[in-house]
Amino acid sequence: MGGTSDTHRLVDPYEVAALYYDLTVSHPIGNTTPQPSFFASLADVRQRVLEIGAGTGRTTLAVAERARSVWCLEPSPAMRSLLLNRVQHSALPPDRVTILPFRELPETLPGRFDYAVLAGVLGSVAHDDRPRLFRTIAGHLTHGAILASDMFGDTDFSPASPVLIAEARLGEIRYTTHVEVTDAVSGPEGGIAETKYVYRTYLGSQLLTEEEQVQVRHGTTRSIVIEQLNEAGFTVLAPGQRAGSVVAPLDVLLAERN
Ligand SMILES: C[S@@+](CC[C@H](N)C(=O)[O-])C[C@H]1O[C@@H](n2cnc3c(N)ncnc32)[C@H](O)[C@@H]1O
Repeated sequence: MGGTSDTHRLVDPYEVAALYYDLTVSHPIGNTTPQPSFFASLADVRQRVLEIGAGTGRTTLAVAERARSVWCLEPSPAMRSLLLNRVQHSALPPDRVTILPFRELPETLPGRFDYAVLAGVLGSVAHDDRPRLFRTIAGHLTHGAILASDMFGDTDFSPASPVLIAEARLGEIRYTTHVEVTDAVSGPEGGIAETKYVYRTYLGSQLLTEEEQVQVRHGTTRSIVIEQLNEAGFTVLAPGQRAGSVVAPLDVLLAERN
């Protein structure tokens, strides 16, 4: 058995996925979320923005170009290292983006925010953990601020064989990403799926590497998320309603802080 340091070792569900994340999301087969441009369209120069689960910073940079400042929380060290790299090599002023490392979401965040972003994050948050997340965000938003969140619609999880979800070429290497649901349970609050991502690299027809990452996905429904947001102090905009000049779409939920 390992000693104390092993016992407390952080298991990073993005340890391998981080390496391939940007390639996978920018070369999808079929539709994909998140959509950085949509989240950026809700930002403006007066806003301090809170972004939870900033990942490699795709959405962060798009939002930061239009906002006064962005404060990012990102629990995965692997994703955070790419975020740090992307931010420091961007053309943004050095005081525009603040990256807050954390393992557990802190109850208290620095100051108040005018816009909150959850891009591609909700699927990682369990049903019972969402109320605390929403309350923490609500507690740090100004009156009338918008919280934008995608990924609330997956409920139909059942074991499924691998599907190719992304394919990219860089130089002579071809990269593929397959996803497979290896185990799934369903329940009234939405399903939980053990999801295996397999990343392969090929030189011509020769397989060079094959790496795996297992992640847990939490499904939920729009109506469950709306109920939890209402309880946390938000009013959810119906699709077609406006937040400033932006029309609330079907696949991203916009909630206004009461
Ligand atoms: C699919 S990635 C999305 C990254 C980024 N927002 C984007 O638009 O590309 C999900 C991110 O959420 C982070 N995450 C997972 N669970 C979280 C939680 N409970 N609170 C905050 N972030 C979380 C993960 O570490 C990961 O970086």
